[in-house]
Amino acid sequence: MPEYRELEKVKDYFAEKLEIHGATPRGVDYNSAEAQEIRFLQLLKVFNTSQKYSLLDFGSGFGAMYDYLLRIGHQLHYVGYDISLPMVEKGRELHLHNPDCWFTANIADVPVLDYATLCGTFNMKLDADYDAWTKIVVECLRQMSDHASRGFSFNMLTKYSDADRMRPDLYYADPLFFFDYCKRNFSKNVALLHDYKLYDFTILVRKD
Ligand SMILES: C[S@@+](CC[C@H](N)C(=O)[O-])C[C@H]1O[C@@H](n2cnc3c(N)ncnc32)[C@H](O)[C@@H]1O
Repeated sequence: MPEYRELEKVKDYFAEKLEIHGATPRGVDYNSAEAQEIRFLQLLKVFNTSQKYSLLDFGSGFGAMYDYLLRIGHQLHYVGYDISLPMVEKGRELHLHNPDCWFTANIADVPVLDYATLCGTFNMKLDADYDAWTKIVVECLRQMSDHASRGFSFNMLTKYSDADRMRPDLYYADPLFFFDYCKRNFSKNVALLHDYKLYDFTILVRKD
């Protein structure tokens, strides 16, 4: 992925959150563990769990998604990828000696896996221009698709949020644009989930 100036600020932002709040939902900028789990629940709908699967978590933070999937009984090989080195280091520290769970800050290290997923990675754009951020998102979705042979899922804040509560530093995506983009570029089998009472939506892209 080309170096984007916008991502340098995001790296610093999340490094600071982790430093202040540690390995907690607030450490990855979420208000509550409950909302985070509702989001995970939507994202995992694309995985076929009848046998062990492999998963790339794009913008993994310290691996909360992996811990959640283990807790609910999934069997998986997990790779957490994050641009923030402190997040990657925290993920490694928390999952030491677990050969089924590793972390990297370099997407080139990641082989093609069964699935890829992404939770909250693009929400915080800080002062980046909206269209420039959309370009980065699309580039990352392409990378996710290239790394996932069976399908992938992602969520983003929705542009259908209440106008008076929207913030300029957050990215509110157009669900219809991303649904259309995925249909045209990644797979004919795409689902848009926008019915779980949070100010975000989830897209599932099935390849098999
Ligand atoms: C809101 S946190 C979510 C962490 C994790 N997905 C979770 O749900 O617990 C967003 C994470 O995405 C990472 N991130 C942001 N933009 C990224 C990008 N373009 N590529 C990889 N990681 C990114 C940040 O460093 C941060 O750790």
